[in-house]
Amino acid sequence: MNSFTGQHILSVNQFDRDAILRIFSVADAMQPYALRQKRTTVLDGAILGNLFFEASTRTRVSFGTAFNLLGGEVRETTGMSSSALAKGESLYDTARVLSGYSDIITMRHPQAGSVAEFAEGSRVPVINGGDGANEHPTQALLDLYTIDKEQRSLGNQIDGLHIAMIGDLKHGRTVHSLSKLLSLFDNIQFTLISPPELAMPDSVVSVMENHGHRVTITDQLSGSVSADICYQTRIQEERFASQEEANRYRGRFRLNNEIYTKHFKSNTVIMHPLPRDSRAEANELDNDLNLNPNLAIFRQTDNGVLVRMALFALTLGVDNIISHYDRDVVWHSNKRL
Ligand code: NCD
Repeated sequence: MNSFTGQHILSVNQFDRDAILRIFSVADAMQPYALRQKRTTVLDGAILGNLFFEASTRTRVSFGTAFNLLGGEVRETTGMSSSALAKGESLYDTARVLSGYSDIITMRHPQAGSVAEFAEGSRVPVINGGDGANEHPTQALLDLYTIDKEQRSLGNQIDGLHIAMIGDLKHGRTVHSLSKLLSLFDNIQFTLISPPELAMPDSVVSVMENHGHRVTITDQLSGSVSADICYQTRIQEERFASQEEANRYRGRFRLNNEIYTKHFKSNTVIMHPLPRDSRAEANELDNDLNLNPNLAIFRQTDNGVLVRMALFALTLGVDNIISHYDRDVVWHSNKRL
């Protein structure tokens, strides 16, 4: 991918290592704006169409926040039932219409492939905020950005890392996209822990293997897992035929302080795309890890704003001129990392 300007962002397959590092360097430059040390009006007058046809809190709000932080306006549509899609309108028609109202569109939809189909009808760039169990490219980028930052402070780089992924690896689009991005790096060791029925799809495992990475697939969390990253996931109940079926797996792989201490290194970074299912029957990531400095989940959510700002700036071609539009922050602000 040579230039981002005017391009859709639909799949992690679009990126090579250079593109990823470019996004990360623009994301780094966004920190002062996200921390409200200064602000920019570079996107003054631009409109984001933020279309979420599936449940979301952080992805939807962080897209909107990222656009606002660059000085742009956000128009939001949430829920299928309140949109004309419920009247039988095609994704193509909706895209033709809404792209007339926006400079860029972010979209989440429950069907795999739907965001790409929408993009065909769109007259402006479309960024995939998650299409069914398929992909979640912006989450994968923020996860990889977090991995890079966390490991850099430990003196490591992405090449050579050992990543453990736990939970519903079959339906989890975040782990599908993240695995493909990690596969672009060198000498990664993957340990994939899930019930056999919820194993990582072969199509994703073959990407890892084709790049020469070591892959261990298991249905047990046992012994010591020498992972640098432990990436926990939620049972994606909305992708099961019934709640009863999802209930069979709930709580199967919990992570709490005791389990973490038993199986992981003392500096293994704990990640989760969130939301974590904190109901007693699931409790997949216990609150007793909240004060553990290795818990990176809220650093992931903060990093999401930086990465999404970077993607907007690159896609709209303003990444090199942001500071020309700097303004002072005039209200009291002591926002911290
Ligand atoms: C994830 C998603 O929607 O795929 N959440 C997110 O975007 N941060 C993971 C999940 O819902 O479990």
